[in-house]
Amino acid sequence: MQPQERIAELKKERNAVILAHNYQQPEIQEIADFVGDSLGLAVQASKADADIIVFCGVDFMAESAKILNPDKIVLHPETKACCPMAAMCEPSGVRMLKKDFPRASVVAYVNTSAECKAEADICCTSSNAVKVVNSLDSDLIIFIPDENLANYVQRFTDKDIIPWPGYCPTHESISLKKIEKLKEEHPKAVVLVHPECRPEVIDAADAARSTEGMLNYIRESDKDEFIIGTEQDMIYRLSKEFPDKRFIEVPGAVCPTMKLITLDNVLAALESLSPEVNLPPELMEKAQAPLERMIALGRGD
Ligand code: 13P
Ligand code: SF4
Repeated sequence: MQPQERIAELKKERNAVILAHNYQQPEIQEIADFVGDSLGLAVQASKADADIIVFCGVDFMAESAKILNPDKIVLHPETKACCPMAAMCEPSGVRMLKKDFPRASVVAYVNTSAECKAEADICCTSSNAVKVVNSLDSDLIIFIPDENLANYVQRFTDKDIIPWPGYCPTHESISLKKIEKLKEEHPKAVVLVHPECRPEVIDAADAARSTEGMLNYIRESDKDEFIIGTEQDMIYRLSKEFPDKRFIEVPGAVCPTMKLITLDNVLAALESLSPEVNLPPELMEKAQAPLERMIALGRGD
């Protein structure tokens, strides 16, 4: 029996749902019940009626699913699948910033640990970061952990943003030189980049969007060629949704930890009901409110 068939059987037996991020390998996207961006996945997790959520993505995404469903079993098939940017932010540092800037509100990009989320007033994703910041009363914002996203938001708000100096290695690897070369080779292509990219890359693009925001942009566009400035497996999702359009990847834009989720470890997780995401109840309680405030605000792109 193929692993896909056994996964389908177990999913039924266990009443499980499989959620997968847009950067997952094609074979994982194929077995998922829902494929989407961080915000879409958090929304799906918050309304899941299955008993078990199998989360195919990185650690902070699986943790958010657990925080939004403390009574459900959330399985993360490979615990080494972590987001290096989320690991760049420490709750003790956030507490120091809060002390230094007591009138500031804290916005935590979902790419953070549960401990950092617990220090925040509200979470955001790349879809709604601008909307979240502008929804706050305070005119001073501590924004963790992505400096590029913080600087992107600063373009669309009069509030002062204090960025945490974190970054995504995958999106940092998308240089202006690479984008310029691709534009030369494909002069008619629309350039879409993720807001985790460097400011000069965002300046050179036609638009900056979350991964799902890119889908929405392409759906509404009459153009048929796009340079995609984000993780390469996004192109699998795009090609499936828009088979008549052409997508060009940026060389080297790979998130290695996203690829640690495989059919074998998804199958093993469903067989053994492990590894399970478990967090202290008091921590989940503190991290839940900022996540729910974000979900209530909805998409921004
Ligand atoms: P999205 O929310 O746009 O899917 O981005 C998540 C992420 O980790 C980007 O690197
Ligand atoms: Fe983290 Fe970057 Fe990978 Fe997204 S692409 S999960 S931000 S390392």
